[in-house]
Amino acid sequence: MGGEEPHRVAVGAPVSGAGGRPAGDPADDLPDGLMVADHEARVVVFNAAAVRMTGIPAETALGTDFRDVLPLHDAEGRDWWKCLAPYEGLCTRTRHPERVLFLPGGTELLVTAAYRRDRQGRVERFSVSLRDAAHRARQERDRADLVSTVAHELRSPLTSVKGFTATLLAKWHRFNDDQKRVMLETVNADADRVTRLITELLDVSRIEAGRLEMHRQVVDLPEEVRKVIAGRVAAGEAEDRFRFEARGELPEMWLDPDKMDQILGNLVENAVRHGAGTVTIVVEPDAHKEGAAVSVRDEGEGIPPEAVQRVFRQFWRGPGGNRRGGTGLGLYIVKGLVEAHGGVITVRRAPGGGAEFRFTVPAGAPDYAT
Ligand SMILES: Nc1ncnc2c1ncn2[C@@H]1O[C@H](COP(=O)(O)OP(=O)(O)O)[C@@H](O)[C@H]1O
Ligand SMILES: [Mg+2]
Repeated sequence: MGGEEPHRVAVGAPVSGAGGRPAGDPADDLPDGLMVADHEARVVVFNAAAVRMTGIPAETALGTDFRDVLPLHDAEGRDWWKCLAPYEGLCTRTRHPERVLFLPGGTELLVTAAYRRDRQGRVERFSVSLRDAAHRARQERDRADLVSTVAHELRSPLTSVKGFTATLLAKWHRFNDDQKRVMLETVNADADRVTRLITELLDVSRIEAGRLEMHRQVVDLPEEVRKVIAGRVAAGEAEDRFRFEARGELPEMWLDPDKMDQILGNLVENAVRHGAGTVTIVVEPDAHKEGAAVSVRDEGEGIPPEAVQRVFRQFWRGPGGNRRGGTGLGLYIVKGLVEAHGGVITVRRAPGGGAEFRFTVPAGAPDYAT
């Protein structure tokens, strides 16, 4: 090998490890499979992901007619290359949109293709990108599950609202005031539940789309915790149910105060509603003194060890969770909000039994600095 560095590396040629550049073929860094054929349909690039997805070694593929290497067919069993006739067809074609195609073994792939043509419109290069379809299929299944869960969650309170209002309208004079009051209270609570569910779903969709907007400002975290506790006490909870401890000195914390309230409010509410005994909240500097750590623990039954992996998932509710009127979205949202701050949240068994949720958030910086 001569000492001269090529000033331009042809696609597919291995890049030398010298001169500070990473070794290997950059095409191998792609998460998608890539196959490139030259003007005579011979394979010139067959990257690592393509090898992984097809199980065909690169040595076998390179230099061979790509139609023999990648015999893709559609769901009806038609040979895709025959349908496409990439080197004949219209010389104005530049690309083919994504399609689901199959390898002979039945492997499902999402395939897109693009042409590079010379001035006469002849194919110079034909590139095919391959993507694992299993992941997409799983996502679609999850979405379908989500839609049916949401539909179900909305239907049950609405069924009750409809039932009670219809009964009251039809038989108004047959009930006494107390009975009417009970029914109206149920209707009121169910309407609140629908509203809460919709608010939470909007948060979920913002988290999933990565559209949470952060508005950071200096936040006095212990003060936020005191506010959340005061709110619960004002709403009728006994004051001695809560214990609050602020340990050590926190750095200046740049957080989104509304989101912090939501996180703290959710964790404290869970501790009160799903837990039991005293709810203890501790705010302290994190292990590296670069942020804050907050833990909320109670003395109830805690989270069963086999459910620890699942508590932060959408719509997960423990035994009795449904009866307590929850949606199972709270902790999913809490996790999303903590992560939007660059933090992490975990759950474990509290020292004296019960659940202990602990999250850490870095001190952060003003929005204009990030
Ligand atoms: N402090 C806690 N103690 C025991 N179980 C809890 C606690 N916090 C949450 N859980 C369990 O986790 C589930 C999910 O919580 P969450 O996502 O907030 O939904 P929700 O409160 O609407 O049910 C709850 O239904 C409950 O079973
Ligand atoms: Mg909750």
